[in-house]
Order: sequence, then structure tokens, then C-alpha cells
Amino acid sequence: MPPESTSHSLQIPTPLTPKPPSRRTNAYSLSADVLIFLSGAAAALLLFYVFSSFILPPTPYLVSSNQFQKPSSSDTPSFYDDPSLSYSLPPSPSVSDWDTKRRLWLHLHPFPPNRILMLTGSQPSPCTNPIGDHLLLRFFKNKADYSRLHGIDVFYNSALLHPSMPSFWAKLPLLRAAMIAHPEAEWLWWVDSDAAITDMEFQLPLQRYQSYNLVVHGWPNLVYENRSWTALNAGVFLLRNCQWSLDFLARWARLGPQNPDYKHWGEVLRAELPDKLFPDSDDQSALIYLLIKEKDRWGEKIHLENEYYFEGYWVEIVGRLQGITQKYLDMEKREPELRRRRAEKVTAAANRKSRENGLPAATAPSGWRRPFITHFTGCQPCSGKHNDIYSGEKCFEGMVRALTFADDQVLRSYGFRHSDLLNDSVVELPFDFPVAV
Ligand SMILES: *[C@@H]1O[C@H](CO)[C@@H](O)[C@H](O)[C@H]1NC(C)=O
Ligand SMILES: *[C@@H]1O[C@H](CO)[C@@H](O)[C@H](O)[C@H]1NC(C)=O
Repeated sequence: MPPESTSHSLQIPTPLTPKPPSRRTNAYSLSADVLIFLSGAAAALLLFYVFSSFILPPTPYLVSSNQFQKPSSSDTPSFYDDPSLSYSLPPSPSVSDWDTKRRLWLHLHPFPPNRILMLTGSQPSPCTNPIGDHLLLRFFKNKADYSRLHGIDVFYNSALLHPSMPSFWAKLPLLRAAMIAHPEAEWLWWVDSDAAITDMEFQLPLQRYQSYNLVVHGWPNLVYENRSWTALNAGVFLLRNCQWSLDFLARWARLGPQNPDYKHWGEVLRAELPDKLFPDSDDQSALIYLLIKEKDRWGEKIHLENEYYFEGYWVEIVGRLQGITQKYLDMEKREPELRRRRAEKVTAAANRKSRENGLPAATAPSGWRRPFITHFTGCQPCSGKHNDIYSGEKCFEGMVRALTFADDQVLRSYGFRHSDLLNDSVVELPFDFPVAV
């Protein structure tokens, strides 16, 4: 629903609320700055006003630019006031015109573009694996660390939002609800609870995804030629907050367990994807199925990312982590900028810049670059019911290695690191580490 029109007039913004004393004490230059600021701001506002009066209804935002005093936009009706709006997937009423509703809301509540909301979670009840909850805590700490470093919001969900959509289907109703709850987020980033971020400096290359609405790790030839069940991995993906995504979620969910024809879909998917191991319809097979069968409708907006480890199979990764650590330390020995101690807030950006030229391309298959995300597919840390092709110890050791590998990147800003990837003890880092050890 568009916000009500309100009367409006163009006003010069009042100066910002008092700041803590600044180093600048010269009253003349200060007031000159304020004047320059005011005239610049007024010109910008006027321009904005002229344009926006053609494309958007007038809003209270236009008459207040004081960032510390939000306009009374919370009083302006928005889509939240529509009693028929539902946070649930169909058969609840579907949402229409979401892009306009979201744009109007953003107009009332300005946020910087490209905001990301990370979504992850686990079951409502305790893990049956005795160490499962501890592992999930460490996996979540890992995501909280990355998100803090990159200004990303996180929502951890442990409630089953749709009672008949458990396990791998549970994220669909969550994504739907989160899109409505977070109109400020351009991207929703689903990350499975058993995935660890193993490059704390890496930044999602969002500029590459401008024309896509869903980004998932996968390979087009394995989808369209091999029709393989593992052609992509639905455990980590980016979904744009837009009408297309609401429609896609609704379509995707129709192959899920809340539908009476769930059993039928299991059979269809098994026939379509020859290497699918189990009979039930699962979210990953369903996504591949939609890519194959409804490519015309969805394909253009779905990007299969395979140029870096947007998500990587742990078996290929964990054995290499020790060697990767050594390569990065060698790099830091050569490059003084990488040895400098910095505040945590600026470390990732500064290191990214200093490392730029020294790293193998993220695409290099056997490069020694840190993999962005290490995914413990098949390990099932919470239930402990891991895939029989590897032992529980191998899974556990792999998880500890990856989580410690990531934690060392974080602890560096706090002056510590683990004495070894499998040792919980930490050692304090001397000045100029790793040249001085
Ligand atoms: C995909 O199919 C091609 C051709 O049939 C085959 O050579 C290749 O090994 C398959 N790849 C995978 C990963 O199954
Ligand atoms: C873990 O590291 C600490 C400190 O370096 C060391 O004293 C301890 O022996 C190590 N433990 C194991 C099991 O290696």
C-alpha cells in the first residue's frame, strides 16, 4: 500500500545534534563549514525533491534530513498495515507488487544499498549427537564473526515456521518471512548450520550478481547434461529480496512435504535425476528440477557460481588447511603491511588490499587461496548420522580444523592464535609476527 500523501514543504535541515568536541576549535571555519554543508545539503535536497516528486509520493523524509532524528515514518502506513499480508508461503495469500511496496518502504526508511541479511539456524530441540550443540555453537560463532567483520546482519532461527517443512525444507518458510521482516535487506544469504566461513577477508562479489536473483554454487553442465543430484548445492545461496524470489519460493515449496503430492514428487525427481540416492523429494533436487524443466521461467535469473568456493566440499579442503596457513604466513613475512597490527574493524579491508596481487586466483582449482566456505555436507554434526563413506572422527576432526583455521584469522586482531589447528590452547603473538616468533 503506498504511504498516505502528506503535506510537505522544503526546509533547510537544522545542523546535526551536538557532536563530541572535535579537534577543530576555530569558530569561523566551523561555521563556514556548516554554511557550506547547509547550502550543499539544501541543493541536494532540492534536486532530490524535484526528481522524487515525479516518481514517488511525497514523504516526511523530504522535510527532515537530520540523521539523528528519524522522520516520523513509523506513523506512515506501509504494507505492514495490510491485514491480508501473510508471512507464510502459499496457500496463505501470496504477496503481489512486492517490489513497489519494498521501494516505498525504503523511501521512508533509507538504508544503504546492497544490505545483506544472513540466515541460518538449527532444529528447536537439542542435538542427539552429544557434541552436536557445541559444534553448532562454534559454527554459529564463525558466522557471527564473519558478519561482524563485514557489516552483515544475522538471524539465527531455531523455530520450525511450517510444521510440515522440517530439515532441509525449513529454510523456505524462513526466507519468505525474512523477506517481509527485512525490506531493508537486498540480499538474503542462507548458510547451512554445518558450513564454516574459512576466509574471513573475502567479500561476496555482489557487483557480479546485479542481473540475478538467486546465486547458488553449481555447474550448468552437470545440471543440464548430467542431470546430477549434486550439480549444485542448496546449502548456501543468495536470494534477492524481490517479487521474483517470492514467486520462486512459492513454486519451489510446491515440491515440498507440506503438499499432498509430496510422494509423487519424490518419484518424479528420482526419475529425472538418476544419481539421486533417496526417495523423498528434497530441496536441492527440486531446485535442479526447476532449472531443467522451467528454465524459460526462472533460468535467466539464477546464477550458478563456480568461480570460487561459494561453498566447497569439506573432503577436498580440510587436508589443505595447514598448508594454506603456511602460505599465508610466508606472504606475511614478505609483506610488512600484512604484519601490521590494526583494529579489527579495518583489518579485513586492509589485508584484502595488501594481499591483492600475491594470491592465486579464487578460480585456481588447486590454488592455496583460503576457500571461502567449507561445507560439511554429509557430516550431520547435530544428529551425528554422518554418511557412511567417512568416519565420525574424520568429520569431527575436519570441522575442528576448519573452525580453528577461521578462528585464527579472527583472533589475530586480538593478539592470539591457536598453537595448532587441533589444539584449543592459544598463544600470544609477538610484535611483528610472523617475522618474530
Ligand atoms: C557428466 O557427463 C559426462 C558425459 O556423459 C561424463 O563424461 C562426466 O563424467 C559426467 N560428470 C559427472 C561429474 O558425473
Ligand atoms: C596445545 O598447545 C599447548 C600450548 O602450545 C601445549 O602446551 C600443549 O601440549 C598442546 N596440546 C597438545 C595436545 O598438543
